[in-house]
Amino acid sequence: MNKKQTKWSERFSEPTKEVVKRFTGSVNFDKRLALVDIQGSLVHAEMLMIQKIILVKDYKAIEKGLNQIKREVTSERFEWSLDFEDVHLNIEKRLTDIIGDAGKKLHTGRSRNDQVATDMRLYLRDSIDSIINQINHLQKATITLAEEHVTTIMPGLTHLQVAQPISFAHHLLAYVEMLDRDKSRLFDARKRMNFLPLGAAALAGTSFPINRNFVAKKLGFDGIIENSMDAVSDRDFLIEFNSAAAVLMMHLSRWSEELIMWSSPFFNYIEISDSFCTGSSIMPQKKNPDVPELVRGKTGRVYGHLMSLLTLMKSQPLAYNKDNQEDKEPVFDVIDTLEDTLEIFPEMIAELKIFPKNMQAAAMKGYATATDLADYLVNKGLPFRESHGIVAKVVKQAVSKDCDISEFDLSELQKFSSVIDKDVYKYLTLEGSIQSRKHVGGTAFSAVKKAIAKVKIKLK
Ligand code: ARG
Repeated sequence: MNKKQTKWSERFSEPTKEVVKRFTGSVNFDKRLALVDIQGSLVHAEMLMIQKIILVKDYKAIEKGLNQIKREVTSERFEWSLDFEDVHLNIEKRLTDIIGDAGKKLHTGRSRNDQVATDMRLYLRDSIDSIINQINHLQKATITLAEEHVTTIMPGLTHLQVAQPISFAHHLLAYVEMLDRDKSRLFDARKRMNFLPLGAAALAGTSFPINRNFVAKKLGFDGIIENSMDAVSDRDFLIEFNSAAAVLMMHLSRWSEELIMWSSPFFNYIEISDSFCTGSSIMPQKKNPDVPELVRGKTGRVYGHLMSLLTLMKSQPLAYNKDNQEDKEPVFDVIDTLEDTLEIFPEMIAELKIFPKNMQAAAMKGYATATDLADYLVNKGLPFRESHGIVAKVVKQAVSKDCDISEFDLSELQKFSSVIDKDVYKYLTLEGSIQSRKHVGGTAFSAVKKAIAKVKIKLK
């Protein structure tokens, strides 16, 4: 095959136009699959030898050639060419250049259709493993911060209005839980994708006496994909991964939004370290929370890729169609986005400066203990709906006097209900409110400490 010839030249009477080569070529982005492609080819060749489909000496030559290519790829000396369309054909061409005719035997009993489906699984499997590892790091960084702030009081919000006081650690642990489910979604997707497509060949299988289970085992798959049409055509595993990635980014985006708000002068709960911010080219006073803003922004592209993959698959008749080549850029971009985000996020969390006094002051502002007064009245025998109404009146008067409920003296409070006694005040403090919620999942300091201990064990 000379440089201008393609694999299918013999069949065609016109050469491929340059623009068509560019349009149909994928090597510029699928060269990322080179190492897993070689990994798969090595085992495929070994199986061909064991099954006596190729000679031992041919296998030895293929093995040597592929290992050389591996070194060329890792040291970035490999010369990729659009003349050979994709990663698979580039490697095969180079193999034949290095070892001669034996290289042409590697593709026996397989097609690029089952080859690429295998490569994507191998690649994604490794990526998922490293992403899960990164999520672990983020969880650990969050728990470390939470441990320092079990007794830091902040206003818990609903509708962005002050609702009830909570421990800052309790707030942080909510994200640790979300990340836990994100990991389990990724584990789940990994488990379901970890079956071998190779052996399906183009779509119908092969007439050679291959051993698919050998290949599956050697490549670390949990088994083989039983139906050859299914093996080469479906990309549900990429969609599942992207969907788990979208949920993960959604969580990180919510968190980013909070970091952005908390670091604004209106909240002033935290300061994001200078090394994660940038300034403004016009306003000298500005320090912008670029990192969380970008995490929030990048969430959009991860959602977008999910939609493009779903759309890519929705009308494809069985089995393989070239459309599937379009699965790579979205998936690679999702992986890159996740890996970058998860590299930067734990460091940003570890370097946050927290201002507990400002959090506490904010919790004092919005009658955060009103529910506690209502609960107090219930404990004194009033029905909850009645106590709710009484406390609403107390709050109304506090608003008009611009004071907190706890600032009313006992006689003033008793005007609202005669069951109120001097023991009421311990329920009206922020800490009293927090400490009363000591059941599993509550925000009492003791419950939060137990929750931290529990997640730490889980993370080990
Ligand atoms: N580059 C192709 C892809 O990503 C490889 C499979 C090509 N198969 C084919 N019959 N043209 O899907």
